[in-house]
Amino acid sequence: MNDTMKWWQKTIAYEIYIRSFYDSDGDGIGDLNGITEKLDHLKSIGAGALWLTPCYRSPQADNGYDIADYYEIDEMFGTMDDMERLIHEAGRRDIRIVMDLVFNHTSDRNPWFIESSSSRDNPKSDWYIWRDAKPDGSAPTNWRGIFGGSAWTWCEARQQYYLHTFLKEQPDLNWENPDMRNALYDAASYWVKKGAGGFRMDAVTYIKKPEFRDGVPDYGDGMCAIHNMTANTEGILDFLHEFKDRVQKGNDIFTVGEANGVSAADLPLWVGDKGVFDMVFEFGHVVIDLKDETNWAERRDWTLKELKHLISESQKNTAESGWYPVFFENHDQPRCVSHYFPSDADRKMTGRLIGTLMYTLRGTPFVYQGQELGMQNVSWNDINDYNDISTKNHYDFLISEGYSAQQAMEAVHHFSRDSARTPMQWTAGKNAGFTTGIPWLKINDDYPECNAASESEDMTSVLSWYRRLSVLRDQHRELIDGSYLEIMKDNDQIFAFTRRNDTHEAVILLNFTGQAVSYDKEIIEGAELLITSADHTKGRLQPYEAAVFERRV
Ligand code: GLC
Ligand code: MG
Repeated sequence: MNDTMKWWQKTIAYEIYIRSFYDSDGDGIGDLNGITEKLDHLKSIGAGALWLTPCYRSPQADNGYDIADYYEIDEMFGTMDDMERLIHEAGRRDIRIVMDLVFNHTSDRNPWFIESSSSRDNPKSDWYIWRDAKPDGSAPTNWRGIFGGSAWTWCEARQQYYLHTFLKEQPDLNWENPDMRNALYDAASYWVKKGAGGFRMDAVTYIKKPEFRDGVPDYGDGMCAIHNMTANTEGILDFLHEFKDRVQKGNDIFTVGEANGVSAADLPLWVGDKGVFDMVFEFGHVVIDLKDETNWAERRDWTLKELKHLISESQKNTAESGWYPVFFENHDQPRCVSHYFPSDADRKMTGRLIGTLMYTLRGTPFVYQGQELGMQNVSWNDINDYNDISTKNHYDFLISEGYSAQQAMEAVHHFSRDSARTPMQWTAGKNAGFTTGIPWLKINDDYPECNAASESEDMTSVLSWYRRLSVLRDQHRELIDGSYLEIMKDNDQIFAFTRRNDTHEAVILLNFTGQAVSYDKEIIEGAELLITSADHTKGRLQPYEAAVFERRV
């Protein structure tokens, strides 16, 4: 084993959407003590780092991604004592806590914004992005925010507009202001001192604003998507190098940036020794089925070859320097068993297939809660059953663009963020064992079979498979430190690759189709079968079968 590797390269990371994980006090909302109670479950699939979605004090306009105080825990999730106990209890199991830093914007209830918006000449007047109206009184640019509507909101007190990439309750911070930047670095350092093992940097590609000018309208509303104007623009890396120097240097923590707008080719500037983060989440493979990321109704057919190519490119670009965070789900994305496979595919097979890919690619797997159970999307037919503000806004956007209610609803079924946010399914009992109260969001109907307790008893379940994968990864170290090589590139049914270190080579074969598929036996010559999700016959993979082989080199 190459012992220059860092702890976070060798472990499994797990994302917790706190409000949906486990409710310890019966108020229907998951909380920090709930996480502490479930640490053994997390350990059982190998988790060594827990990325917590924001638990800071927040009015919850965007479920915590609107922070009112970077130094306080929101009452709904518990207290600072609960947080310290969680860090301590996790630490005893060799698990570290990773905080979500929302540094592109704050809540409009944050005292910083309240002060900034009160006048044009207060000490924080320049901490957010303020601009005068156009001569006709309209917004400074025609940018459409990521959650719909204009990205500018008028402020009476200042007689100016402020910019918000997301909701109007999430005003964007002005990174050009050094005092503001210092305030953010101080907040991050506070969490390092508390014992955080790392940071996930929210929406970080939007922090540097380019020139403020109109873009070409892309839909009937006369606006253009803000993402196309402000993501990953010139100068952003200077800010992030400063962040790295001020917050990370000298601390044994890792950073992973949410890097919408960063392509595989940009990776060398973003990750590794010369880059700004240890890892970045790229999104190419999760938006593979969309023609246009800003319109959920326009889906496209994709091929396995395209998916393999995207992943292989990222593997290549992080081979020498930097590291890859492997993910197929998060709290903003559909459930992978619903996303990548037809609705009649067996979720136990496809859940194990993606799990195998996650644990055998080169990088740190980021498992999203419930993925280890094979949880599926929900398809509610009443838009009022949904909670996510971006889902509701997107539905309205589609209707206003002339799509039928049925088309808009289908789009919601595929892409609503609530599919990932339904409560975690712990048992076959009431409320799936998530809460003794009334759950804040409806529970997925599939919980009687799809839950941690039942799956623990079933050796063929997705959960049992993740547990086996975690042991496999520890015992066969080429899965951690080996190099990646894609094989059978032109095959549009099987994703196949090898992982090789000085002593061993693993061969991973994944059948992405619902049919049995043959392959050339030579590729596993001299190799022994380590694990398979179906009855394996040499030279042939069963529908959705995942198989891992190994040979000495
Ligand atoms: C990120 C988060 C998402 C949030 C947005 C605004 O994309 O993952 O949940 O709504 O940023 O903070
Ligand atoms: Mg609770």
